[in-house]
Amino acid sequence: MTIMNSLSPRSLSAPESGIVEVVNYARGREGVIPLWVGEGDLATPDFISRAAAEALVAGETFYTWQRGIPPLREALARYYQRRFQKALSPDNFYVTGSGMQAIKLAIEAVTSPGDEMVLLTPAWPNFAAAAEISGARPVSVPLRFEHGKWQLDMNRLEAAVGEKTRALFINTPSNPTGWTATPDDLRAILALARKHGLWIIADEIYALYYYAGTRAPSFLDIMDDDDRILFVNSFSKNWSMTGWRVGWIVAPAAMGQVLENLIQYSTSGVAQFMQRGAVAALDQGDAFVDENIAKAARSRDLLCDALIATNRVETLKPDGALYAFLKIDGVTDSRQAAIDIVDRTGVGLAPGTAFGEGGSLFMRACFLRDPAQVAEAAERLRRHILSR
Ligand SMILES: Cc1ncc(COP(=O)(O)O)c(C=O)c1O
Repeated sequence: MTIMNSLSPRSLSAPESGIVEVVNYARGREGVIPLWVGEGDLATPDFISRAAAEALVAGETFYTWQRGIPPLREALARYYQRRFQKALSPDNFYVTGSGMQAIKLAIEAVTSPGDEMVLLTPAWPNFAAAAEISGARPVSVPLRFEHGKWQLDMNRLEAAVGEKTRALFINTPSNPTGWTATPDDLRAILALARKHGLWIIADEIYALYYYAGTRAPSFLDIMDDDDRILFVNSFSKNWSMTGWRVGWIVAPAAMGQVLENLIQYSTSGVAQFMQRGAVAALDQGDAFVDENIAKAARSRDLLCDALIATNRVETLKPDGALYAFLKIDGVTDSRQAAIDIVDRTGVGLAPGTAFGEGGSLFMRACFLRDPAQVAEAAERLRRHILSR
């Protein structure tokens, strides 16, 4: 028996990320403008790093609360009151080792092996992969793409729900399409979940990156206290903390011990000094977040306007999230196109093949960068597209 045949089928079935594959191809290349992964160009602001560093130096290096230190869970409650006008108790919050871990634990909490989880595609590939690793089967429901706009087809979503469905995974605003559920969409999805007794796993990590108002519509606006909704979230995008690996779950307080156990038997909690940084992010970070959002809005306009003006790209400015998701005329293999584009133009894009059903002819570009750099990337892409 070889090493590989002796591994579990579940671990072997985990796919390589199609985004990382292209990043690895050109990693470290001089002059590349990296629009391929979902992160900005700023390091974590000082006031956040300093709070963590001071706690570290002060000796906050011991085991701590599995579900998160009380000051962080209290700061999260204040943040939801401020930004979502939602009164939640600190007991509704569970601190996790990244948004990704929040997703993994939420899926583990509500699905058993053999169950199905329905998700809308194109989607960030980690949702489906996390389900598979947990033994659940992801079932894709492609959004409709019409006249450059992505739309939910509720009939398709309802048709995908079967005997084995346990959860609907809803990411709004969406990575990579920017599709953002309207209040009517949210109401229809919630009604479907209630009708079939399903959980909703709501990934609203980009809720503040919304360009048609102060924040995107949220399930928080319409849910009742006893609805079965788990919100997964992260410090990564709002506060430029992608490398920290800290996130959180919002869940009914009744699940407290279950989530605490799932945290205990995976990471046993997030380092206390990092949680002090997270408290600073929440309590002192509103101005930084607002600047990040304003920068994303400017860069979104620059990139999308330049690409749309070529008349060779099908896309609309996304309502939310951090990505332009574009279909370039004549591209039939987006993985190869991402490689050609980084070779010829030095702009790093993620191939749509990485995002599941419905996305294979598209490319994703993250625009959370200095607008001057995004304008340079847009110009390089424009020249490349027009020369084809
Ligand atoms: C929609 C969505 N959810 C969750 C995450 C995970 O974030 P984290 O960096 O905290 O793992 C990402 C990261 O790109 C994302 O795009």
